[in-house]
Amino acid sequence: MIRLLGHGNVDSRDNVDSIGNARDKIDAAAFVNLVEVQIKDFRPAEMARLFISAAFLASVGRPLLDQQWLQTNEHPGDQSDFWDFLSKTMQRELAPLSFLTDFFRSPTKSELKAYETKASLIVSSIATRTRTMTTQKDFHEFCLQALGEMQTLARLESDVLTLRKNAPQEIFLANSLYRAFDEMDRVLSLDYTLDEGMSTSPNQTERIFAGTGLGVQSSYASILVALDQVRLPQGGTFIDLGSGYGRVGFVIGFLRPDAQFIGYEYVPHRVQAAEDTAKRAGISDHVHFIAQDLSDRSFRIPEADVYYMYDPFSQETYRYVFEQLREIGRRKPITVATKGRANDWFKNAIEGDLWSLDVTQDEGTMSLFRSQPSTEA
Ligand SMILES: C[S@@+](CC[C@H](N)C(=O)[O-])C[C@H]1O[C@@H](n2cnc3c(N)ncnc32)[C@H](O)[C@@H]1O
Repeated sequence: MIRLLGHGNVDSRDNVDSIGNARDKIDAAAFVNLVEVQIKDFRPAEMARLFISAAFLASVGRPLLDQQWLQTNEHPGDQSDFWDFLSKTMQRELAPLSFLTDFFRSPTKSELKAYETKASLIVSSIATRTRTMTTQKDFHEFCLQALGEMQTLARLESDVLTLRKNAPQEIFLANSLYRAFDEMDRVLSLDYTLDEGMSTSPNQTERIFAGTGLGVQSSYASILVALDQVRLPQGGTFIDLGSGYGRVGFVIGFLRPDAQFIGYEYVPHRVQAAEDTAKRAGISDHVHFIAQDLSDRSFRIPEADVYYMYDPFSQETYRYVFEQLREIGRRKPITVATKGRANDWFKNAIEGDLWSLDVTQDEGTMSLFRSQPSTEA
């Protein structure tokens, strides 16, 4: 990573200088060639670590620049406040990038911008490279490592949010991982353009979001934080109701190989794409995507330990689905993770039953409801 980012004080043997150091305008094509040469002999896990570190670095570039602007505006000509802030941030929010501390010493605005650009180019080069991986083992190793690295960062972000709450007077980087790992979609072949030309009947009342893709998938960071909190038991079952292109299933499938995952989805081409990737990655023994209209009255949702729902249904389908979850929740302890509109809908639906609203996370957009079955059930 250090060699690829390049910097004026990099050892002269480093060939990065030949394509321009951080102060110059970056020649993107030359840089991408360089990345390809550098990662040629990397093991998949090594490549995944670089992929996630670079994605993280790219996501912090903008907030760092903002903070630098704010602080140098308050004290023109004096970077010391920014450096104080940066060194604290390197120990706390940017600890996973601490190997770059020397490179960040009093960076100029153009250097920070260059890091951001180069990091994004590293991310997209690696995503492209994974598309040519031919063995299931390599692809699986890459995905598993990448999601594990993301999990570490998502946990760090969660801890930083708690710190921030407890120390509101302090300045934090205010970075967000919400969209930081979106390039993982390219690795997993989640191709939202498949929605193009998708036809929906005029009688269609479900919220199937033709063509909107990325914006209606849960972020990788949100899913990872949810996974930490839903208390999925060993060997348990996790069901995503309205699974889209399958992001949730991939996170659970790779990180919890002991568990069963089922994703039900209305739109068949999304199911097919998710199934294809699960097979390619070798996780299709415990990860299943099924084309199913959940409003269909002849279908009953099976028993599971955790249910996940991100804003999927029409009002009527919500009622039908909630009725079933409520019934299951009376028989056994379950967790229902809701995101978006599903939060309030579910809160109203369970009124009168013994459920606890355990955590509200993801900046208040996700709720975790836990059922407490009645003893006589
Ligand atoms: C907002 S997306 C969430 C995708 C995924 N769960 C996530 O969090 O990334 C909701 C999905 O629910 C699906 N959906 C809507 N109505 C449905 C129904 N009646 N049966 C099954 N899936 C449905 C939509 O097609 C869409 O892909």
